[in-house]
Amino acid sequence: MKKFLSMLLAAGMLLSIGLAGCAKKEDSKKIGVAMPTKSLQRWNQDGDNMKKKLEEAGFVVDLQYADDDIATQVTQIENMINGGCKVLVIASIDGGSLGTVLATAQEKKIPVIAYDRLIMDSDAVSYYATFDNYKVGTIQGEYIRDQLNLDGTDGPYNIEIFTGDPGDNNARFFYNGAMDVLNPYIDAGKLVVKSGQKDFETVATAGWKTENAQSRMDAIISGNYADGTKLDAVLCSNDSTALGVANALEAGYTGDYPIITGQDCDKPNVKNMINGKQSMSVFKDTRTLADKVVEMVKAIMDGKEAPVNDKETYNNGKKVVPSYLCTPVFADAGNYKELLIDSGYYSEADLA
Ligand code: BGC
Repeated sequence: MKKFLSMLLAAGMLLSIGLAGCAKKEDSKKIGVAMPTKSLQRWNQDGDNMKKKLEEAGFVVDLQYADDDIATQVTQIENMINGGCKVLVIASIDGGSLGTVLATAQEKKIPVIAYDRLIMDSDAVSYYATFDNYKVGTIQGEYIRDQLNLDGTDGPYNIEIFTGDPGDNNARFFYNGAMDVLNPYIDAGKLVVKSGQKDFETVATAGWKTENAQSRMDAIISGNYADGTKLDAVLCSNDSTALGVANALEAGYTGDYPIITGQDCDKPNVKNMINGKQSMSVFKDTRTLADKVVEMVKAIMDGKEAPVNDKETYNNGKKVVPSYLCTPVFADAGNYKELLIDSGYYSEADLA
């Protein structure tokens, strides 16, 4: 009996050593991926792509969504650190709120990749992978300039402006990219912001939320366009704000439909483009971004430098973060099939 018990004990020990060994092997390949929210289509695609591609590359993935709640995201990152993640990939909710938790990551020598949105005021950020955010704004501004033929006509044309969450560093890049194109025409009186709402803080949209853009647009319409005054263009930094603007126009505006810009090619917005309720969007293929981040993770795990193509644009207040900028692409009803369906991003049924 004694012999049997000691055999059992030895077998148990062997098993637990085996299991620990196994867990250790898994841990040594564990990557934490923190996404902001499931409520917007793109982040679901980003998370799914990252998980799939990292797993294909042999990593174990801890993927978390934080419901746009900063405290939840901080706790999720703490758990990733304590759970043995070797690299953290983070799309922050508020770029300025992760300093403390990332100081812990830095103490434990865990490299951090800022995903799509720059993490501010922290020297724990090793790399940044994103799309060229300023270019996104430039594409939107140039579209409005060209559609209204601002160089060939005198106008004046009425425009309103909607950008994103002030805690998202990208929002300023989108806004600046577009306004650097449009401001000369505003200064020349060819473009008129009838509501007078023009500076970044005033045109920001908390949480990038459709309903916040919609209620601001409702107020702008009733204050400025309810008497039949024509609205010619609405600069929207992304699709969720463009949707809010389109909803408000549908409910309270009777004139000719204005030009509306967007970004992301979310399904409801592509449908709106097809139906003439949104003029354009900017396509940022989340598969390209995921591929780049997987390359970065692999390089880091192999002890190498990760690929970057920009070492000067993104200063987060503590350091210039070496970045890889993917290229955003113009999308409208004329090229969406080629861009989105032929490339396998969406099926025909997705957009029906
Ligand atoms: C992203 C956009 C997105 C927005 C709202 C930004 O940081 O770059 O693609 O539309 O957040 O989620």
